[in-house]
Amino acid sequence: MVIKTICILGGTGFVGHSLAARLVSEGYNVVLITRNRERHRDLLVLPTLKIIQANVFSANVLRNVFDDCDAVINLVGILNESGHNGKGFKRAHVELAELVVQACRETGIRHLLHMSALSASENGPSHYLRTKGKAENLVHKSANTHAPDSLAVTSFRPSVIFGPHDSFINRFASLLKLMPGFFPLACSGSRLQPIYVEDVTSIILKCIGNPVAYGKRYNLCGPRAYQLIEILEFINDQMGLQTRIIGLNNRLSWLQAAVLEFAWNKPFSIDNYNSLQVDSVCDAAMPAWFGIEPKYMEEIVPAYLTHDKHEKLSLFRSRARRSG
Ligand SMILES: NC(=O)c1ccc[n+]([C@@H]2O[C@H](COP(=O)([O-])OP(=O)(O)OC[C@H]3O[C@@H](n4cnc5c(N)ncnc54)[C@H](OP(=O)(O)O)[C@@H]3O)[C@@H](O)[C@H]2O)c1
Repeated sequence: MVIKTICILGGTGFVGHSLAARLVSEGYNVVLITRNRERHRDLLVLPTLKIIQANVFSANVLRNVFDDCDAVINLVGILNESGHNGKGFKRAHVELAELVVQACRETGIRHLLHMSALSASENGPSHYLRTKGKAENLVHKSANTHAPDSLAVTSFRPSVIFGPHDSFINRFASLLKLMPGFFPLACSGSRLQPIYVEDVTSIILKCIGNPVAYGKRYNLCGPRAYQLIEILEFINDQMGLQTRIIGLNNRLSWLQAAVLEFAWNKPFSIDNYNSLQVDSVCDAAMPAWFGIEPKYMEEIVPAYLTHDKHEKLSLFRSRARRSG
């Protein structure tokens, strides 16, 4: 199957930025659909990339855009919804996946690459994991890997993803900087196996138009699993902070989620708390044919997390004064 032009839904986000740049550098034409073209003008420096501002939930829009494409990558996903009843998750994950599959069929798209999440399951503990699981099953059911000319599907199930513009490490870093000496951490014992964004995009690239990947669901993890509290301590160290991180028990973790659920921008929610009740770690290494030696957080994060030099120096001086 020859793939030249790829449409990415959700291509303006953290993973999308990295993926779009890689696809363009590999010679693909890339079409992104976004709700706000102006906000993502930075991507227009990529020479073979086009950004279309349109509603991804419109069947007509999807058909029109897919008509000129050979493959589709769906990266749309949300970690929190504006409401509280799961409808937002259902719309962004399940309803969109249905529309995408339908439009792929109608326009003869040959390969749909779908971004799910590790531990996604229709029986999962949170709206996030249940809707991700439902969407994943739905796209795979729609595919027929045996019939020539039919739609092939590959899905990716990453643990948490890190990289210079992530909203995981960076968000905790900002919160740690704000806290006055201590940080109450919910679900501190939850286990995660972070994977580097460039490793994720390398894997997606290997799979595009590759029959070996048709019908497959790939769990994606970095080389090491950590408890959430270990990751926070690592960030704390990297930032040169001495914030004390206090792991909350289960009841207090839930209480923190119940309160922050109503804070501006929902920094933590009951749904996030529920997602963290299952570990997000892999039980097997990734396939050797990916040719990936996954990067450790420790190799990548320090370069984007350390304070700038002046900030570091004044922190060092103030500590020296305190201890002197
Ligand atoms: N980052 C992680 O740690 C992680 C871990 C596991 C799985 N994943 C999955 O990987 C995918 C990409 O993650 P990411 O971190 O790159 O996400 P992101 O930075 O939040 O970007 C998600 C993109 O989805 C689009 N989007 C979000 N809500 C939408 C809505 N209601 N309607 C239409 N479009 C919407 C946005 O596009 P516009 O604003 O331009 O319209 C945005 O560019 C997601 O499916 C996510 O669930 C991520």
